[in-house]
Amino acid sequence: MIVARTRTGLCEARATLPGPVGVVPTMGALHDGHFALLRAARRRDRSLVATLFVNRTQFNDPSDYAAYPRDEAADLAAFETAGVDLVFAPSVEEMYPEGFGTRIDPGPIGADLEGARRPGHFAGVATVVAKLFNLTRPSRAYLGQKDWQQTRVIDRMVRDLNLPVDLVIVPTVRDPDGLALSSRNVRLSPEQRQSATALWRGLELAVSAWDDDERSPEALADLVRITVKAEPLASIGYAEVRHALTLEHVAVADPPLVIAVAAEIGGVGLIDNVVLGEGLVVDESP
Ligand code: PAJ
Repeated sequence: MIVARTRTGLCEARATLPGPVGVVPTMGALHDGHFALLRAARRRDRSLVATLFVNRTQFNDPSDYAAYPRDEAADLAAFETAGVDLVFAPSVEEMYPEGFGTRIDPGPIGADLEGARRPGHFAGVATVVAKLFNLTRPSRAYLGQKDWQQTRVIDRMVRDLNLPVDLVIVPTVRDPDGLALSSRNVRLSPEQRQSATALWRGLELAVSAWDDDERSPEALADLVRITVKAEPLASIGYAEVRHALTLEHVAVADPPLVIAVAAEIGGVGLIDNVVLGEGLVVDESP
């Protein structure tokens, strides 16, 4: 496995890789969610590139950036075990050299939900992801369903800017109690972690109501809200039923649909979602 720290080093190493090349962008603190993306890429692509960069411009809260877990040695070892061919792990100066000024504004799709909760977040994501795509030049990029709005923002950007990459969305990996794996989960105390399961419990209630033919978006969202609000340690950000692709409000809860929830627990921002509809997320069952 090659570890490139500079754009030049990356470019040289990338030129030696046989295609098709898959890229998995990450901010490190790797867990089984990241490994699922790496496995999906390994299955489809000849060469596997991972990126490791905690991107300050997507953190609207400086204390969240400071508290973001970092363990580069463990991450590099895990990438190696996962069969990664090339890791791009640049410094801040390498990604944002003196004079850096361009920002990609993803428009309305990045404006509400997480975009409203975290102003500027998706401009930071879109800008860094465009840079990472341009640097690594992948055939395919692998993204997690857990960050559903992020997948929509990147999909919009890829179409709008004609970036030559196909996106593959990999299902959310969860702990046995349903909590979606997240690098931020390590910051939760045992009690907070227990409360955090309310996001998934709420989503499950909404899905079973949907299975029982509930088609009111507000009624479905309310089931999630009530479940999260019942947790004294949790403060709800939003629970929303939206069109899965455009993220627009819907009058009737018909697929393609996303039920998205966000909450804060002990100062840690958590999100989760379920997606109803065919072919939106890859089927990774054996
Ligand atoms: P990060 O939070 O490290 O996530 C990297 C990728 O792993 C994202 O595509 C994310 O959706 C996916 N992921 C995280 N938790 C997951 C889970 N439980 N199951 C499945 N996939 C999961 O997302 C980012 O970094 C950054 O915004 C990035 C795209 C790297 C740009 O800086």
